[in-house]
Amino acid sequence: MIIKPMIRNSICINSHPAGCAAAVRNEIRYAEEALADRKKLPGTPALVLVIGCSTGYGLASRIAAAFGYKAVTVGISLEKPASESKPGTPGYYNNLTFDLEAAKAGLVSRTLDGDAFSDSLKAEAAKTVREAAATAGIAPKIDLVVYSLASPVRKDPKTGIMYKSVIKPIGTAYSGKTLDMMTGAFSTASAEPATDEEIAATIKVMGGEDWELWIEALAAEDVLSRTARTAAYTYIGPELTWPIYKNGTIGRAKEDLERACREINSKFGPSGSGKIAGAWVSVNKALVTRASAVIPVIPFYVSCLFKVMKEKGLHEGCIEQIVRLCRDRLYSPEAAGNPRKVPVDKEGRIRIDDREMREDVQKETMERMNSATEANVYTLTDIAGFKHDFLEAHGFDVAGINYENDIDPSGRDL
Ligand SMILES: NC(=O)c1ccc[n+]([C@@H]2O[C@H](COP(=O)([O-])OP(=O)(O)OC[C@H]3O[C@@H](n4cnc5c(N)ncnc54)[C@H](O)[C@@H]3O)[C@@H](O)[C@H]2O)c1
Repeated sequence: MIIKPMIRNSICINSHPAGCAAAVRNEIRYAEEALADRKKLPGTPALVLVIGCSTGYGLASRIAAAFGYKAVTVGISLEKPASESKPGTPGYYNNLTFDLEAAKAGLVSRTLDGDAFSDSLKAEAAKTVREAAATAGIAPKIDLVVYSLASPVRKDPKTGIMYKSVIKPIGTAYSGKTLDMMTGAFSTASAEPATDEEIAATIKVMGGEDWELWIEALAAEDVLSRTARTAAYTYIGPELTWPIYKNGTIGRAKEDLERACREINSKFGPSGSGKIAGAWVSVNKALVTRASAVIPVIPFYVSCLFKVMKEKGLHEGCIEQIVRLCRDRLYSPEAAGNPRKVPVDKEGRIRIDDREMREDVQKETMERMNSATEANVYTLTDIAGFKHDFLEAHGFDVAGINYENDIDPSGRDL
């Protein structure tokens, strides 16, 4: 079948198997090269669990662990497989490619598809970790847990209640300029303030409770190494985005993620039971993912930001960000053997959004946002780069792929 992008209201509803596979292979090559000198550094991870492993930051984390440090990886995600007539989700092809390349490189990898919020998947993950470790001939002790879930819904495993997250402001309505990446047209996006119920539901879905449940479950199953590190990801961004992000429902959920991080450290870290070495929240850079195009102001801000960062030679995608997180933060030469040496800000968070938040980068980004019009949007901003990254996240617009070719949607010939 010939597969071309199908985009409806800034959402891409299909994906291209060969394009997804090529994008994964590009990330693998990058991680192999960028971490080549770090493989043997004592203290780097050998058995890694990635929750949310199939796309974006989680996929990059798994690639860095496996192809950078030669770790055994167990990955968890929720994706739709392909059928005879319809492609699967991008993460489905990404996982297939990851497992294929890992096997070729002699690396043990296991991928579980299911609901990470459920108790049953947590138990299955522990079983799979033991099996993968036995296959690789190493101790069944995870030394890195990456929590990189992004989900619109969560079923509470204790009560069975289904919660839905929303991206809304709190207190007052939001109205701001937004950009349509497909047409280059500006419009005003507005959102009504969230109700208390919506705020609570967003915290349930995107907050830190499930991360805590994961660490508790893994500790109870005795599959955590005492040197284990765990990291979850957040975003802060510039003030301009705060009404809809940091000070909105999602920001409340991210505050809860930081609360969970403190809780995990005090319960399981060296000052608690000593079952793990530590938990960190890492503040990452804004990137284009499958959902970015529908968040008000984000496509406009990111298009201006990318233009500035590319001009200054500071631009990074998921894999560059995560390689830097590993190389220079979590497993820097000083921190690899000593978790207290992981560089953090005064709130205890890892910062890899430092380049995005640099004063000169923010100043020029804001200037561009103030001067951009429909007449100059293709030169003043990187709307083309935003659109490319969005398409690439679905396997389209990837260099070297001929989209006129007939392709088997099953992913059998990846
Ligand atoms: N994208 C950004 O710009 C950005 C910036 C900073 C921080 N972050 C944070 O990084 C984290 C990951 O974001 P992303 O953009 O890489 O997300 P993404 O949408 O690319 O990936 C989400 C992952 O979660 C998995 N998933 C979703 N629901 C699941 C479920 N019920 N069970 C199992 N797996 C499930 C998906 O399969 C996928 O692997 C989030 O916490 C996000 O807030 C994102």
